[in-house]
Amino acid sequence: MKQTTDFLKMKQCEEKIVMLTAYDYPAAKQAENAEVDMILVGDSLGMVVLGYDSTVPVTMEDMIHHGKAVKRGAKDTFIVIDMPFMSYHLSIKDTLINGARLIQETGANAVKLEGGDRVAEQIRSLTKAGIPVVGHLGLTPQSAGVLGGYKVQGKNAEAARKLMEDAKECEKAGAFAVVLECVPKQLAKQITKELTIPTIGIGAGQDTDGQVLVYHDVLGYGVDRVPKFVKQYQNLNPVIQDSLSAYSAEVKNGSFPEDRHSFTMKEEELLSLYG
Ligand code: KIV
Ligand code: NA
Repeated sequence: MKQTTDFLKMKQCEEKIVMLTAYDYPAAKQAENAEVDMILVGDSLGMVVLGYDSTVPVTMEDMIHHGKAVKRGAKDTFIVIDMPFMSYHLSIKDTLINGARLIQETGANAVKLEGGDRVAEQIRSLTKAGIPVVGHLGLTPQSAGVLGGYKVQGKNAEAARKLMEDAKECEKAGAFAVVLECVPKQLAKQITKELTIPTIGIGAGQDTDGQVLVYHDVLGYGVDRVPKFVKQYQNLNPVIQDSLSAYSAEVKNGSFPEDRHSFTMKEEELLSLYG
C-alpha cells in the first residue's frame, strides 16, 4: 500500500495520482482491481447513495458505516475518508475526536476536510495528532449554501489570489495533498506549480498532479445528469434498468424460474410426505 510520502514522490516524478470514490464493498474491490492510488470515501455518498440533495445531512455514523465496507473491499489501497458537515467546526477537541473515530473505526488512512485558511488550525491539530489530512478547496460542497450553489470558484483575480493563499495555508498546516474542485485550469496549474504537496483535481483541468471522480458518475450508475467535468466511461443505467425489468416481467409471466434453477427430490421421499 502507498504511504503519504509516496504521493509526494509521485508528484516529483510527474507520475499522475488516480483517486476514485467508493462507498461500499464491491466498488472498493473494483477500485482496487483497477489499481487506483487512493480511494475516497466521499461525503458525496449523501447524494449518490443516500438520495439527499446535498452533502450537508451526512453524519459521522454514515461515514463510518460506509468507510468500514470500503476497507473490507480494499485492504491494500490507501483510503481517504471525508469528515462530514460540522464534524470539524465546533472545536479542535471535537475535530480530533471525530478524526480519530473515522480512522480507528474504519481503518482508513487519512481524512479530508473542506476549506483553507478557515480550517488551518484543524489541519495542524489532526496532523500533529498523527492523522494524515487532505485539504479540499475551490467548490466546497458543504458550504454550497454560502457559496450560492455549485459554481466554478476562483474565476476573478481576487478569488484566485485567495484560493492560492488557501492552498498554501493547507500545505503549511501539514496537509499531504489537496483536492481542487471546479477551478479554472490555469489557476489549478499555477497552484500545482507553487505547492510542494500534490494537487488532485476534479473539474480543474489536466495539469493537477492527480484526478478524482465519483464512482457513480464514471459508470453512469443511478445519476441522471453529470457535470461538465465528468467523463462517463459507461452508462450502466439502461443496462441495470433493462435487467431488472426483464426479471420483473419473467416472474409475472412465469418464464422464471426454469427447471434448471430448481432443486429436486426423489419421488419416494415425496410420497412419504403424504403418508
Ligand atoms: O465527496 C466527494 O466525492 C468529494 C470529491 C468530489 C472530491 O469530496
Ligand atoms: Na466530499
